[in-house]
Amino acid sequence: MKIFAYGIREDEQAALREWMSNHPEVEVDFTDKLLDPETAKLAEGADAVDVYQQLSYTPETLTALHELGINKMSLRNVGTDNIDFETARRFDFSISNVAVYSPNAIAEHAAIQGARVLRQTKALDNKIANHDLRWAPTIGREVRMQTFGIIGTGHIGRVLIDILKGFGAKIVAYDVYRNPELEAEGIYVDTLDELYAQADAISLHVPSLPENYHMINAESIAKMKDDVVLINVSRGDLMDIDAVIDGLNSGKIFGLAMDVYENEVGLFNSDWSGKEFPDAKIADLIARDNVLVTPHTAFYTTKAVYEMVTQSMDASLAFIKGEETPNQVKY
Ligand code: COI
Repeated sequence: MKIFAYGIREDEQAALREWMSNHPEVEVDFTDKLLDPETAKLAEGADAVDVYQQLSYTPETLTALHELGINKMSLRNVGTDNIDFETARRFDFSISNVAVYSPNAIAEHAAIQGARVLRQTKALDNKIANHDLRWAPTIGREVRMQTFGIIGTGHIGRVLIDILKGFGAKIVAYDVYRNPELEAEGIYVDTLDELYAQADAISLHVPSLPENYHMINAESIAKMKDDVVLINVSRGDLMDIDAVIDGLNSGKIFGLAMDVYENEVGLFNSDWSGKEFPDAKIADLIARDNVLVTPHTAFYTTKAVYEMVTQSMDASLAFIKGEETPNQVKY
């Protein structure tokens, strides 16, 4: 039994080596290279591949694996939006993801960044760095005084709701699938329009699906309260960033915390020190006092990385043995 792992970063190696020592019967080889039609040949002789990348799993990439006799692929992340499922179906690929590696990692980040926007900590930090120690006009809004609109009440949305309740915030939520416990608390609204009308801060926790594309746009922003705070730690394409920039310019939007960006591939997780950003919009957003940009790091905690490696390797092994894995992606 052999598993070949792609895109293994330094910080993933300890968990991978631990998994390898717990599974001496499995031959494991890995590279820091990402999986593409060219690097696919590195997996020759393997029964399954273990992967994480934002680069697409294109028809060519999946075909290259198929030609090596490999049709088992375990993702170390949750999002499957970069997989060409038509080709995967054609070659009968078994695919798994790590649906729940640490909802807290992402929910905590959303809560922290949302609270930082409300308390204007970036503006304050910048003033302090410039030796300006005056209070005004950098006055904060208390988290407990806000109504948070949570769009999507899956694992991450639910943890965020718990964290925000700890602050004393009021919650309204929207999801097409309702959680019975939250339903009993009466926090759901029936439509997104109701949520937009009530929320002082809105956090997105839905996947990238065609029906969610640019759900935050000029029309939805117009329905929101003045001085709304937006938080996106989910997927960049949920927001029409031009409409969000217009909302920031007009003052309709008080501030934005974003960990994801529609055009982030090749931009985030790259070192631009000493260089211009290649994207004028991200440069503009990063320069603003009321916008917090993080480069898709909400997930990036020691706990999450450990779970991503361990659960994905477990899933690859289950596929090879013909066993069930709770992480199988049904497509
Ligand atoms: C995912 O798990 O899909 C994420 O968005 C985090 C990723 C950058 C590892």
